Amino acid sequence: MTDLVARVRDVLPSVRADLENLVRIESVWADPARRPEVHRSADAVSKLLTEAGFGDVRIVAEGGAPAVIARHPAPAGAPTVLLYAHHDVQPEGDRSQWHSPPFQPTERDGRLYGRGTADDKAGIATHLAAFRALGGNPPVGVTVFVEGEEESGSPSLARLLSAHRELLAADVIVIADSDNWSTEVPSLTVSLRGLADCVVEVATLDHGLHSGMWGGVVPDALSVLVRILASLHDDDGNVAVAGLHQASAADVDYTPERVRADTGLLDGVREIGSGSVAQRLWAKPAITVIGIDATPIAQASNTLIPRARAKISMRVAPGGVAAEHLAALTRHLESHTPWGARVTVTAGDLGEPYAIDASGPVYDVAREAFREAWGFDAVDTGVGGSIPFIASFAEAFPEAKVLVTGVEDPDTQAHSINESLHLGVLERAATAEALLLQGLGSI
Ligand code: BES
Ligand code: MN
Ligand code: MN
Repeated sequence: MTDLVARVRDVLPSVRADLENLVRIESVWADPARRPEVHRSADAVSKLLTEAGFGDVRIVAEGGAPAVIARHPAPAGAPTVLLYAHHDVQPEGDRSQWHSPPFQPTERDGRLYGRGTADDKAGIATHLAAFRALGGNPPVGVTVFVEGEEESGSPSLARLLSAHRELLAADVIVIADSDNWSTEVPSLTVSLRGLADCVVEVATLDHGLHSGMWGGVVPDALSVLVRILASLHDDDGNVAVAGLHQASAADVDYTPERVRADTGLLDGVREIGSGSVAQRLWAKPAITVIGIDATPIAQASNTLIPRARAKISMRVAPGGVAAEHLAALTRHLESHTPWGARVTVTAGDLGEPYAIDASGPVYDVAREAFREAWGFDAVDTGVGGSIPFIASFAEAFPEAKVLVTGVEDPDTQAHSINESLHLGVLERAATAEALLLQGLGSI
């Protein structure tokens, strides 16, 4: 066992160099101009997996982003483990706010900064490290599946799963795309929220009007939109949409100080919603307004705005159904539109939540691997984020055991500026995964 820990340490420098090369590729699928980069990224991942010793490596696509599937056959009688990660990344946002260029991996204080260093190119690095540490010859079958459009809601995933069902079939699936309790204490993620989003558009006029001539008599679309958006929460910040699902969360200690530290909440700004932090983050719905199209201030003139729209993102608690939540949100938006304004709701992405009963031999092996690699027991946590792949995969392979691990930590700042990976976490996560693959060979 200890041998394997040392071997992970030995392969880590090469894995880190490979991770840095992946981060240099701007694989932002959501940006049409950078789709060729996503293809480059798939090529790079496929090359790394081939060099690592996978005999069967292919790049597949079903009308969407390229995904990579690499297979190492199972020894007779051994289970097959599917290792999941995604090679697409979020857009980098405002480049001027990064302390080092987003696509130039840079180490500071034991952390590697850059878009995708953690979410989720570190997931790819973890799989590579585990496989290399096992000498390319693990005691179980290993299939690596690296998706290319996770950050865009995986629109072609269902087609990929059905077109390549035999290639992807597995007894255990490891999703290395989640968070850890801290840089020292691992998490085993046992629930994720789902997601439903939409764009709400308001129209009040067929053209803009002089705001002095007509203001006070006819409504501008932005004022209407703001009232609609304001109706989504009550005064305490709880979601005010009727008919949404709530689950119950584990009782974990999450202090107000930690919330403040982990989020960068400004002094004087209060938390919203009622219930424990875990309850609000993992087990209740949340609604956020993630974008607005209206006249920018630089172009503002004294004109009543005829049309405005907003994108609304809703998280769905485990046990809820994403499409039903979107329907409830749509009804709410339509019935909270004042003054007879025209409102149109255009449905966006749906992703189902997922909750795991993490008991039985596979989870026992995983917990033991965490304990040995990290020196601490894993904390069973929920997360507020979503990985729609999990529910889709579990539906296709209902017998498979799902393990959600990850290489993020509370300071990672995924999706934000200055995203980073803690290099110690990468080593511990890779060690745990190598031990897991080895341990699953004897259950
Ligand atoms: N890695 C995240 C999911 C995640 C977030 C896990 C927080 C643990 C904690 C993933 O890349 C992600 O960002 N998912 C999107 C899904 C969406 C685009 C369908 C999300 O949660 O917004
Ligand atoms: Mn991710
Ligand atoms: Mn993400």
